[in-house]
Amino acid sequence: MQYSVNNRAIHYESAGEKGQGKAVVLLTQAIDLSAKTSWNKQGYTVEKLFADDVYTAFHNAAHSLLINCWQTSGLSIAHDFSLDRYHKIASTTEKHLAAVEHTKLLSTTLFPIDIVRLEERISILCNEALIARNPFDNQSVFHFRVIRPNQPDNNPLHRDVWLDDYKDCINLYIPLAGSNENSSLVILPESHYWPESKIERTLSGAEIHGVKFNVPAVTGIEGEINFIRPNPKQNEVLIFSPYLIHGGSANLNPDATRISIEIRLWKK
Ligand SMILES: [Fe+2]
Repeated sequence: MQYSVNNRAIHYESAGEKGQGKAVVLLTQAIDLSAKTSWNKQGYTVEKLFADDVYTAFHNAAHSLLINCWQTSGLSIAHDFSLDRYHKIASTTEKHLAAVEHTKLLSTTLFPIDIVRLEERISILCNEALIARNPFDNQSVFHFRVIRPNQPDNNPLHRDVWLDDYKDCINLYIPLAGSNENSSLVILPESHYWPESKIERTLSGAEIHGVKFNVPAVTGIEGEINFIRPNPKQNEVLIFSPYLIHGGSANLNPDATRISIEIRLWKK
């Protein structure tokens, strides 16, 4: 798959059997949590997250929690460590993958602010009562997504809903460190309305440079494509449909790890 964003070319190859889908639009068979918003057509928006003092407390708590997670994984890091220096410490794939095991699938009881405050804020922005609990497996979790610079840590382009458990939700990307025009999440606006027949993908989880991912990878798209990085700033949140093609967010920073919080909400 070859594409470009912000005039930077990105390329990956995934192993595995590939194929095109049927002429169906998955979103039309689902609950569309962007349906009651002004950004429904694009499938994403960038919004302010919290009042400034609330955000400061949130960010400090997120910093402390992430340091604790990394320390538990065996990394030697002090509490005043600058998060975007992570790649200097997790300098090998083995160290990074060990750390990732401790920064994913975290209970929302550990969320850096009362999860109800996040649910209330996003419910207002979506004009729908939402909850951070997956109705398919009853899990209430979030993840720190950590992408080192110039390393194959990022997942490929995909739709979340190619995995069953992510139907009907809305996705959040909350930047914490190193997230900018070179590294923040890549999305393809309006692609949540595209039929599966427009997209070639791996039929099961992607495998890139020997690294396996749960999600299948986009391997080709018919017609013109225009990827963007909406690039939310500190105290902003990128809200986007899980039916949008997204991911593949290669961190093209020369020397900064990109760290974000990833969480999903469903209709209450
Ligand atoms: Fe995703």
